[in-house]
Amino acid sequence: MPHIFVTRHIPDIGIRLLREKGFFVTVSEKNGALTKEELASALKQKPYDGVLSLLTDRIDAEIFNAAPSAKIFSNCAVGVDNIDVVEATRRGIMVTNTPGILTDTVAEHTIALMLAITRRVVEADRFIRELRFKGWEPELFLGTDLNGKHLGILGAGRIGARVIHSAVRGFNMRVSYYDVSRNESIERTYGAVFRDTPEKLLSEADIVSVHVPLLPTTHHLLDARRFSLMKRSAYLINTSRGPVVDENALVSVLRQGIIRGAALDVFEHEPGLAPGLAELPNVVLTPHIASATEETRGAMARLAAENLIAFFEGHPLPNVVP
Ligand code: GLV
Repeated sequence: MPHIFVTRHIPDIGIRLLREKGFFVTVSEKNGALTKEELASALKQKPYDGVLSLLTDRIDAEIFNAAPSAKIFSNCAVGVDNIDVVEATRRGIMVTNTPGILTDTVAEHTIALMLAITRRVVEADRFIRELRFKGWEPELFLGTDLNGKHLGILGAGRIGARVIHSAVRGFNMRVSYYDVSRNESIERTYGAVFRDTPEKLLSEADIVSVHVPLLPTTHHLLDARRFSLMKRSAYLINTSRGPVVDENALVSVLRQGIIRGAALDVFEHEPGLAPGLAELPNVVLTPHIASATEETRGAMARLAAENLIAFFEGHPLPNVVP
């Protein structure tokens, strides 16, 4: 029976499923993410056949060398930028992920951030807790409506498309999108307009929401030059990956009022923040929790286990990363 190393505690359903199948499962006992050295050293303890990894694990040639018998890395995340997939493929190691099941949950968090930043929910909450609320005022915490505004989506894959659905159906927003390929179905269904460059989208959107994977081509997709094209009244939402945004440049444009605000769930150097970011009043920050509901994190753990089970039982794999 295969022996699996799980790099961090995950919802029990994933571990239970593997054990029910008779797999030997070792779960890292560290309360937190393993460093690269800790992961390599843990993998050398036994001849593991497979690894269930998390997005906090950096997996590259050094880790593959530490686990020479591991034939599959099942990442419990949709993003696989933490894994050197090219190197894995070169070595014939399978990489899987957990797409699809988290789409609605991440889209819901995106909408939550959009409402939180435009309606100043966090600022207003802080105001009350600081005992500064002295009674109703006609111009207290004026925000901006979503209704009728223009949403610009960078990356119209599964999650981007789900955000478009909520924005159009729920808030009557107009939408344009930029992607490397056209998605005619969202054009037909939601009247979304395709833009063939990020620049065109950035100059027209009231809210820009980012849903691209982190790739060499999307690193710093939003930088100082592109921020300068946005409306001064515009907001940025990022629930994809931190390094897609040049975070220092973002702090600077927020300070200068080049854009109005930003709501971020992901950061360029997690868990670190760019200097000054946390001091800005016009940002909402959440700690990479866009997929963090009981239902979805359980479903992700289950799917990560199912990918391993399918591999070792010789069935077609639900989610192979190409
Ligand atoms: C979360 O960020 C994921 O990639 O699943």
